[in-house]
This record gives sequence, structure tokens and C-alpha cells, in this order.
Amino acid sequence: MANPLFSVKNLVKVFPNGNRGISGIDLDLYTGECVIIAGANGSGKTLLAEMLLGLTDPTEGEIRFQGLPLDDTEAVLRREAGLVFQDTDAQIIGETVVEDVGFGPKNLGFFKEEIRRRVEAALTAVGLADKGDYPPRRLSGGEKRRLVVAGVLAMGCETMILDEPFANLDWPGVVQVLRVIRDLKQAGKTLIILTHELEKVLAFADRLIILTQGLIRDDGPPEEVLNRLQDTYGVRDPRFSYARVEDCTWLD
Ligand SMILES: Nc1ncnc2c1ncn2[C@@H]1O[C@H](COP(=O)(O)OP(=O)(O)OP(=O)(O)O)[C@@H](O)[C@H]1O
Ligand SMILES: [Mg+2]
Repeated sequence: MANPLFSVKNLVKVFPNGNRGISGIDLDLYTGECVIIAGANGSGKTLLAEMLLGLTDPTEGEIRFQGLPLDDTEAVLRREAGLVFQDTDAQIIGETVVEDVGFGPKNLGFFKEEIRRRVEAALTAVGLADKGDYPPRRLSGGEKRRLVVAGVLAMGCETMILDEPFANLDWPGVVQVLRVIRDLKQAGKTLIILTHELEKVLAFADRLIILTQGLIRDDGPPEEVLNRLQDTYGVRDPRFSYARVEDCTWLD
């Protein structure tokens, strides 16, 4: 098998209050995979995403990106991997929607015309093309989530980590984000999606990982993992309403 894109060894995160967020994770993620990491509230999904991108330091263990420790590859990691935060307000910095989406490409050093093109394409992809002049604080919760998806999209990252990308979204919003996910997958990008809303997106997954109390309980082809699912994992089998894994999407 190819070298992993991310390689996680014995990852542990313990907080000063003794709370264990991540309790010892070993994980290899590969280029071009669409991986869904599912787990109940508090299972460690957001912490894992933050640590993969070097935004939170582990207490123990090591993470490598393209074979190098994160500290040695920070510049490459910033350019090649983008994260859609679960907390959208923490990620919105622009005075207007257009300015906000333009920050990523601007930081990457693109020329004005290219930035304009990327911003327009990204806003169209998430259905916000007519809200370019809005101050982001006046957007609804679902519109804010689409805005942060557009921001990461405009950077053109090879890898995208999406933390609860469907939170707050109405049905058209979910469909729009699913179209983005489908297109990125077709373009061969690496997708890491953290969610418990499997019925919306599992059809796109090559691999399903179940996280519980900071530990990986299962990891494999979605159908096999669902067949082994235990109640204690706190993840609902989406086949309660969709007969087959390939039907688990809100995209027509
Ligand atoms: N600063 C902190 N201090 C103490 N405990 C923390 C801190 N940050 C996170 N935790 C704990 O770490 C655990 C994992 O949190 P995390 O946010 O990764 O969960 P999650 O799977 O993303 O949950 P959700 O589905 O609600 O987003 C939780 O039990 C949380 O209380
Ligand atoms: Mg979370």
C-alpha cells in the first residue's frame, strides 16, 4: 500500500482537569480516500481533527503528514489541508462574505483576478453567490456553515477535513454541501468527514471509522462496520430507513 498521508501513533489528549479527550489512537489515512469518522457527542472527533492539523497539541503520541512530523511540515500542511470548523463563528473573519472567502486564496499568494475567480466559484458552489456583500454576522447559522465550506473550497486544498458539515443546514443546504463533497471526491481529493449523520453522506464513504470515548472501536468498509455496530457506540445504523449503504445520501 502507498505511504499514508496522515499517520497517527499512540495519540493521547488529557486535559489539566484530568478529562481524557483522546485515549490512544493509531490511524493511517491515505490520499484520495473518503473517510467518515462517526461517534457520539464527546467521542473526540473535533479534537482528532484539530490535532491532525496541528491546531491542538497532543499530550502523547505523534502525527506525521506525508511522512514528516507536523512541526517540520507546517507550511505544506497549511497549503494542502483545509478544515471546516464545527464552530463556524471561530472561522469567519471577513467584513463581507466575499472578503471572508478571499482570505484563504489571498494568504496562498494568488493574484487578484484568480482570487476573484475562486471566490465566485466557491460561493456559487454553496449557493451564496447573491450574498457576497453581506456582513457574515447577518447570515443564518446554515448560511455561515456554507460560507466556511466556501472559504476552504476557495483554497483548493488537496485534503479537506469537514467537522459536522451538516450541522444547522436545511435540506437544500445539505444537498449543496453534498454536491461539493461529490465533486471533490470525483476530483480525487482526500476527504475526512466527521459526523454522526450517516444517513446523509455514508454513500460517499470508502471507509467508516467509529470513535467512542477517544478510542477507535471499528474501522473498515462502511457496510462491514455497520454490520458490527454495537449500541454502546452511540451511532445509529442509517439503514434504519435506507435499505442499502449506497442509498445513504440526500443527493438525488
Ligand atoms: N478544553 C477542554 N478541557 C476539558 N475537556 C475537554 C476540552 N476540550 C474538549 N474536552 C473533552 O474532550 C472530549 C472530546 O471532545 P470533542 O469536542 O472532540 O468531541 P466530539 O466528538 O467532537 O463531540 P461533538 O459531536 O459534540 O462535536 C469531550 O469529552 C470534551 O468534554
Ligand atoms: Mg465535535
